[in-house]
Amino acid sequence: MYKALIRPLLYLLPAEAAHHLAFGGLRLLAAIPGMLTLMRRVFHQAGDSARVRALGLDFPNPIGLAAGFDKNAVGYEALGAMGFGFVEVGTLTGQAQRGNPKPRLFRLPKDRALVNRLGFNNRGSADAVARLQQPHQTIVGVNIGKTKVVSDEEAVGDYVSSAKRLGPYADYVVVNVSSPNTPGLRSLQATEKLRPLLGAVQEALNEVSPGRPVPLLVKIAPDLADEDVDAVADLALELALDGIIATNTTISRDGLASSANDVERCGNGGLSGPPLRERSMEVLQRLRARLGREMVVISVGGIESPEQARETLAAGATLLQVYTAFVYEGPWLPSRLAKGVARRDV
Ligand SMILES: Cc1cc2nc3c(=O)[nH]c(=O)nc-3n(C[C@H](O)[C@H](O)[C@H](O)COP(=O)(O)O)c2cc1C
Repeated sequence: MYKALIRPLLYLLPAEAAHHLAFGGLRLLAAIPGMLTLMRRVFHQAGDSARVRALGLDFPNPIGLAAGFDKNAVGYEALGAMGFGFVEVGTLTGQAQRGNPKPRLFRLPKDRALVNRLGFNNRGSADAVARLQQPHQTIVGVNIGKTKVVSDEEAVGDYVSSAKRLGPYADYVVVNVSSPNTPGLRSLQATEKLRPLLGAVQEALNEVSPGRPVPLLVKIAPDLADEDVDAVADLALELALDGIIATNTTISRDGLASSANDVERCGNGGLSGPPLRERSMEVLQRLRARLGREMVVISVGGIESPEQARETLAAGATLLQVYTAFVYEGPWLPSRLAKGVARRDV
């Protein structure tokens, strides 16, 4: 029904308007008394024999929703009820900001890909606190980034303010230094900048949540050179981080099936979906080889099918995330993937 009826209707709208309509519809539906319970029963049944213990948490299944879908933490419980094993909200920044001018989200249907240059449009980290405080069943990661108007010299303070506000309510926190749409952000991946940033966020989390250590992860770009991926892995070990999320969107436009015109029409921004998969897998394999078996790696980038989900777990991912395939495939994707990775013997 999604592909035959709902998706063609959503395609009549610009991509960002379609996102708000679909997400708004889901939240309305979930507000009907009893609906969340019903959704959980329908969507979670099959996949939840694929439980994963990681980050001190008991994930009902390893399929998460990647950051950027629920930027303001307004619908994570409805999304969790749709079969996701966890939902990462954000990116939230220290201050509210509008993001880049529209249009800023584009479809490339021939590649089942998206290009976005949203630029961290969000209501700011303080605004999300009240919603994250509410009792909920979904495992919620909180992804934080830098406010655009904050200078590079003050970036650490911006991340720390968000970490202090949101850490106490987060199941894990992600320092996002890999979105291509905030000028200069990705230069924070260089270890001489990343070390003090992660150290400060770690300290802030320990301070605001002394009784319950909040797992800290860093999210990296697929466009890093191999040596830089290794350097981040070494830093993660040095700082005893809890994990790495790989990868964010790419600025590369290589190997697309879409016409040059269609690609050009999108303009700058991060490309997501299947064209990202090969590099994302390479980064995962590199990280796993460098990190050993213990540290959590959440793999994200172009995962669409149960086979790919199984392959990615077999390549060493602890957990997976999807975004673009959820947009193209619709509401059954999380439970289909979860079922696909469920152990056969249970
Ligand atoms: C529209 C859109 C918005 C995104 N916003 C964010 C964001 O705010 N923070 C972030 O860390 N990643 C963001 N991402 C990246 C995704 O979390 C994910 O890393 C990437 O899309 C690769 O996964 P996919 O191929 O399954 O989409 C965004 C992706 C898309 C498509």
